[in-house]
Amino acid sequence: MIEVRNAFKHYGEQVILEKLNITIQSGEFITMVGPSGCGKSTFLKMILGTEKPSKGEVILNGNPIPNEPSSDVGVVFQQYSVFSHLTVLDNLLIVGRFKRNKTLGFFSRQSKRAFTEKASLLLQKVGLKQVLNKYPHELSGGMRQRLAIAQALLGEPKILLLDEPFGALDPGTRNDMHKLVLELWRELGITVLMVTHDLKEGFYLGTRLWVFDKANHHNIDKHQGSTITYDLPIGNASPELYQELDDKIQPVETLTRLENVR
Ligand SMILES: Nc1ncnc2c1ncn2[C@@H]1O[C@H](COP(=O)(O)OP(=O)(O)OP(=O)(O)O)[C@@H](O)[C@H]1O
Ligand SMILES: [Mg+2]
Repeated sequence: MIEVRNAFKHYGEQVILEKLNITIQSGEFITMVGPSGCGKSTFLKMILGTEKPSKGEVILNGNPIPNEPSSDVGVVFQQYSVFSHLTVLDNLLIVGRFKRNKTLGFFSRQSKRAFTEKASLLLQKVGLKQVLNKYPHELSGGMRQRLAIAQALLGEPKILLLDEPFGALDPGTRNDMHKLVLELWRELGITVLMVTHDLKEGFYLGTRLWVFDKANHHNIDKHQGSTITYDLPIGNASPELYQELDDKIQPVETLTRLENVR
């Protein structure tokens, strides 16, 4: 589904990513960890199409990724990206209106009704059925991320990009969000690429875990970028193992001996 061929990304003199060679099959759930600033978000932006590789290629279903984000790809960021002056339902309807304006002009009354129905169903699916008419400031952090996920899924994307979507949530809420994401992934058959700082989360959710890092940790040369130093098939951990991992896994910033965890 996605193929990255010898891709590099520079900003000016600074090399961020280098020599990325990756194939992603449809339906995979890839979790990504790595030190702050190593280029994980930049990598997601290359899949989204808002950044181009400086060298090499990123191919989606046989074609180069288009310059503008397409409806094939949905995205959720850590920072709440919903519109604060709109209700939960209107936050979804406005996304539909943007899309329509580009291609078909304004909503007809009929298509608006059909769209409202679709949006309501999706909000039900992510657990926001009871709060359709509330404003984001009236929601908890977890609920706002549920709304952001619903927005991202509205265009029926085949690929969902999640950039530390649960980093700001407390552990209980985060567990609920894990359930939701796994449910959506299984039910919709989408491909998920998720950045996390929480290695335990990465092991629990993913079918494959990538570690982004410089090939030589100690190298502070700006001409050396990060690459994928580990590509581990993991096959979603069970809830029991998830508990057990607590004792074994250190925060990723101090991670040095990943092999011991496997
Ligand atoms: N538009 C830009 N112009 C110049 N440099 C940039 C730009 N975007 C990102 N960078 C630089 O690229 C590097 C990688 O940034 P990126 O946001 O991808 O890191 P990250 O791995 O997502 O970090 P974090 O875990 O903190 O989110 C950083 O050094 C950042 O300063
Ligand atoms: Mg980032």
